[in-house]
Amino acid sequence: MHNCISITDTLTYLGGNDRRIALFESAYPVPRGVSYNSYLLKDEKTVLFDTVDEAVAEQFFENLSCALGERPLDYIVVHHMEPDHSATQRRLLQAHPEVTVVTTQKAAAMMKNYFGFAGKTVLVKEGDTLCVGAHTLRFVLAPMVHWPEVMMTYVAEEGILFSADAFGTFGALPGSIFADEVDFERDFLADARRYYFNIVGKYGVQVQNVLKKAAGLEIRLVCPLHGPVWRRDFAWYLEKYCTWSGYLPEERGVAVFYASVYGHTQNAAEIVASAVAAKGVKVRVYDVSVTSVGELVSEAFRFSHAVFASTTYNNGIFISMEQLLADLAAHAWQNRAYAVIENGSWAPQAGGLMDAQLSAMKNMRCIGEKTTVLSAVNEESAAALRELAALVAADVLDN
Ligand SMILES: Cc1cc2nc3c(=O)[nH]c(=O)nc-3n(C[C@H](O)[C@H](O)[C@H](O)COP(=O)(O)O)c2cc1C
Repeated sequence: MHNCISITDTLTYLGGNDRRIALFESAYPVPRGVSYNSYLLKDEKTVLFDTVDEAVAEQFFENLSCALGERPLDYIVVHHMEPDHSATQRRLLQAHPEVTVVTTQKAAAMMKNYFGFAGKTVLVKEGDTLCVGAHTLRFVLAPMVHWPEVMMTYVAEEGILFSADAFGTFGALPGSIFADEVDFERDFLADARRYYFNIVGKYGVQVQNVLKKAAGLEIRLVCPLHGPVWRRDFAWYLEKYCTWSGYLPEERGVAVFYASVYGHTQNAAEIVASAVAAKGVKVRVYDVSVTSVGELVSEAFRFSHAVFASTTYNNGIFISMEQLLADLAAHAWQNRAYAVIENGSWAPQAGGLMDAQLSAMKNMRCIGEKTTVLSAVNEESAAALRELAALVAADVLDN
């Protein structure tokens, strides 16, 4: 049965929620599910903005059929060709042979590659417009936010921005589709941050370019492809995007990441975390073998400081810590202060190896000396760990 949700007199939400999906993009755990958003504008012409993932195809087609009624579908605007938004396009084009596809050249090429055809197509470029009655669509290119073919659509008459993957978030929609009807900060912010850094975080410069274009627009309604629709207090969320895409820390505080086989490196990490917290500094502690690497990356971006503690493993860094460091490098983690702790029973090496990787990232600052634990923490190494913690805490509080 259809479940269309009215956004304005002329704009309807047609998307659906998947709460069974385990891994988004086969990589990121989504315990709170995810929504796939699609929107229909009914003016003199009818305009569909994107389709949805196969997982919610039935819901979407029932919604579309209900929202269209007897009217034909005149246009589909394709903002992004990633299959979580385009997998149902082929079925849509077959069901609506009357529809004209409005998209970028790059997206049209991808449609041909995915489906073998692109239908009737109008190619648009930056700033092109399409009048559909009382509304005029203006197309805003957003390459690499987060694929090269991505564009957004701005509708000046009502200040609507169809923002593609930007401003999206993991997390299924809880009945209401509006950010002002949920507790976004409590229920969605961590997912939004994790979504941003793992999905588009690598492309901060491109996100900033789009934010500059958006700064000149009067935006009253933001319709992303995942997560809640924004019609109030969008400036708060925009500010988060400015911080995130500028690779700036969102909070002053310390993320402590440890990799430990038998618990001794964990012990060292906990001693540091407790000593930092005792100075009144916000700290979060993560076992990198337990928490998903996507969440670790997100937390590393959130805080101004990080401590990395790893056991030495066959002359190297422990595997899950190595994965975290590789992911941080891949997502262009930068502008942070860090400290390093290593453990080893005969030839500790993890600290030097971690430091080499961290110092190769952009604008990184190492605090204190690499601190070494030989097998288990003793009085001497505990004192060194507390000294390191004091330096880290002072650095957080000073800057
Ligand atoms: C598979 C394996 C490989 C290890 N390789 C090294 C090594 O190359 N150099 C070293 O000094 N210690 C090595 N160790 C010893 C660990 O550093 C030692 O077990 C340490 O106490 C681990 O800390 P944990 O209790 O936090 O796991 C290795 C341990 C394991 C289990």
